Amino acid sequence: EQVASGLPLVEALRRTAGRLEGSHAILAMSAAEPGVIAGARLGNAGGIVLGYGEGEMFLASDLAALLPHTRTVAFLADGQLVRVTPGSADGVGLDGEAFDLDARETTAGAEVAAKGEYPTYMLKEIMEQPEALADTIRSLVSFEPPSLHLNHLGAAHDRLGAVERVIVFGMGTSLHAGMLGARYFEALARVPAAAENASEFKYREPVLDRHTLVVSVSQSGESVDVIEAMAVAKAAGALTITISNTEGAQTTRVADGTVYTRAGQERGVASTKCFLTAVVALYVLALELGRSRGTLSEASLAGYIGALARLPAAVGGALGTAAQCREIAVRFGARRDFLFLGRGLAFPVAMEGALKLKEISYIHAEGYAAGEMKHGPIALIDEAFPTVAIATKHALRSKMISNIQQVQARNGPVIAVVTAGAGEDDLPDADVIAVPEVAELLEPLVATVPLQLLAYAIAELRGCDVDHPRNLAKTVTVE
Ligand code: M6R
Repeated sequence: EQVASGLPLVEALRRTAGRLEGSHAILAMSAAEPGVIAGARLGNAGGIVLGYGEGEMFLASDLAALLPHTRTVAFLADGQLVRVTPGSADGVGLDGEAFDLDARETTAGAEVAAKGEYPTYMLKEIMEQPEALADTIRSLVSFEPPSLHLNHLGAAHDRLGAVERVIVFGMGTSLHAGMLGARYFEALARVPAAAENASEFKYREPVLDRHTLVVSVSQSGESVDVIEAMAVAKAAGALTITISNTEGAQTTRVADGTVYTRAGQERGVASTKCFLTAVVALYVLALELGRSRGTLSEASLAGYIGALARLPAAVGGALGTAAQCREIAVRFGARRDFLFLGRGLAFPVAMEGALKLKEISYIHAEGYAAGEMKHGPIALIDEAFPTVAIATKHALRSKMISNIQQVQARNGPVIAVVTAGAGEDDLPDADVIAVPEVAELLEPLVATVPLQLLAYAIAELRGCDVDHPRNLAKTVTVE
């Protein structure tokens, strides 16, 4: 059916858009209007970012594509259209009303476009984690005097004191960060907290109210499952805060408040520095919630803030395990399956280690809570099936040691991540990777680093394209 004959391009697109179902990001050109591009964002799958140049304009699906050309950008939201010429950009809504585009200077670094001395973006991003953490920590806390500054919480800040329950969601690596976040909210703000997969959450009519804080984690801010789950949470009246690495992304527009990470752009499909920085952001948000709810004394708040000071250096120390991880990779890189085990805060680390290995090396890997092992997975153990166990100082260590011994008793090879100087010699028959000691709640961050390095080394030895793993997209904008 012809719906838009003879109309100006943007008007034709607007009328057409009103008749479409589903989520779309559309750009249209017409021979009748040379030099004009009309764009429309409909729904949450797929963004449109506008870049302002000198006598030229850019349109892209992702901020990263614009950074080599311009730092002035505007993001289209659901139901917004734009008419672009080389010298202008005009916004129009689905209702035909004009609106002002929210043009802003992005803080995302242009330096990200280069791999520099590194062969891959992923390795570069693993190696720059201390700096990414330092930038994120510096942006969220001060050490002298100890204080928190979550400057983008907006109106959400004043509602934190009334929060009675927290749900954290995300997908993939961001979900693993969210699992740690839930533990932080419980430990630091003494509030019931749970982590959920956003794609499950959005379809199950969750019971929420205005005293529920929903925290979404999405480095891109454009994962469609996360955006749609946030819409469900908002519609149910929950307070929503998002953790984002991308200024102006869709999640930040939907949420009542945002905590930004300062990881710089992440180009590798496998998320690394954005995981660590998201975990720090969740830790700081949990401190803010604890402060607002009165569950943290000034002294303990100062202690938790102070613990962040040595984190970048400790993660730098963990990067020093790269050569050892490579040597282990040489011996184990041809195995078909891996098991990753952790308890407590180390369980999400095990999940993350398994995800990293499978997505870039295509080796089958499972992340399990170590206590679950005897309920089934132990049947898999034999001399061909390696287990990576996180047995750092606070990771319910004696229980983990006993789980490791159960694996070894069945001839399973063990690679154990432990804390330097804290029982490093307890596992004589295992490959032991020692990481620097940090405060208990921050241990997952240093323990994750050798798992990233191990996955990277194995993938490289197997000749995999780590920056472009098969079947994967950096940002998942379809269901
Ligand atoms: O941009 P997001 O944080 O929302 O992305 C979520 C996941 O798609 C992402 O973490 C994915 O699991 C990565 N490939 C993991 O390395």
